[in-house]
Amino acid sequence: MAKILVTGGLGFIGSHTVVELQNAGHEPVIVDNLSNTTEDVLDRITSITQQKPQFYKGDLTDRAFIEKLFDQNTDFEGIIHFAAFKAVGESVEKPLEYYHNNITSLVYLLQQMRDNSIDNFIFSSSCTVYGQAEKLPITEESPVVPAISPYGNTKQIGEEVLQDAAKAHQLNVIALRYFNPIGAHPSAQIGELPLGVPLNLVPFVTQTAAGVREQLSVFGNDYPTRDGTNVRDYIHVVDVAKAHVVAVERLVARKNQEPFEVFNLGTGTGSTVLEVIQAFEKVSGEKLNYKIAERRSGDVVAAYADTQKANKILGWQAEKALEDAMRDAWRWEKKIRNK
Ligand code: UD1
Repeated sequence: MAKILVTGGLGFIGSHTVVELQNAGHEPVIVDNLSNTTEDVLDRITSITQQKPQFYKGDLTDRAFIEKLFDQNTDFEGIIHFAAFKAVGESVEKPLEYYHNNITSLVYLLQQMRDNSIDNFIFSSSCTVYGQAEKLPITEESPVVPAISPYGNTKQIGEEVLQDAAKAHQLNVIALRYFNPIGAHPSAQIGELPLGVPLNLVPFVTQTAAGVREQLSVFGNDYPTRDGTNVRDYIHVVDVAKAHVVAVERLVARKNQEPFEVFNLGTGTGSTVLEVIQAFEKVSGEKLNYKIAERRSGDVVAAYADTQKANKILGWQAEKALEDAMRDAWRWEKKIRNK
């Protein structure tokens, strides 16, 4: 059993990871500033696992808060760092907020790790670092290309900061490059809570079916793909959460081969936007109101993971299929709309 700090532990991926850490017998301690979630997620986690995790409300860019947190907890064996801003468009409007929030919090955490001899760190990275990769599926060897958004840049810079810190301060770091996490917990107790109009595909699909949005726009059907719509690797959030447990256990057990390792988290299967809609219609029995619209600027044509490194070296693979994720996303949407 390990005591693990989970920053952003009440958010979408963070809350699912807290549940999986508890299921595996660990003791997650949550920090969250509630900027993009609500405190009742704590009770929802507790209703799934019957264990209430310890929770600190606070902001990781607040140095006094973070110092107190580490003074009160001298026995963290690892940190899983989810807390970050993640909206691509907003990051273009507010780059300084993004750099301040995502980079300052990371540096403060690393300084605390160095000063308190905590040496295991899991970082939420993104397949956005690969841009439009030349070869598909995308391996971890695929070059990191200049980011098109400040958000994407915070992930690239974050990885670079971690590589340097790992080398200089004997830290062990795993960066997990997520493809497209979707779905919700099968219990429908926790899931994604987009504020305002969702920018991501799956919450927009479920909100349209629930009557919250009138119509989904499919952004472009003239791409060079099998049906003309973009291809992505949609992965169930519970699979993503389980990968974090495996990754932190790898570091705690000193099984890592290098101080800084990266792994892709995807299913290895690409799905088009229209295939996502079909999967949703099949599992929900609902007809989705959608139209074909203009391309969205900045979208890559196709991205899906080569998962061999994660399978062989991390010893993890996605277990759930697109339909499982769509079923759980729909169950969650109905639950929060009281339908
Ligand atoms: C997006 C970000 C990515 C980030 C990830 C985090 C962009 C360009 N990329 O990934 O950097 O790491 O979110 O969540 O914003 N789609 C529609 N209609 C919609 C919404 C989406 O057709 O209303 C399509 C998109 O064109 C895309 C696919 O659905 O082909 C998935 O979109 P989305 O869920 O936003 O994820 P990404 O763009 O892959």
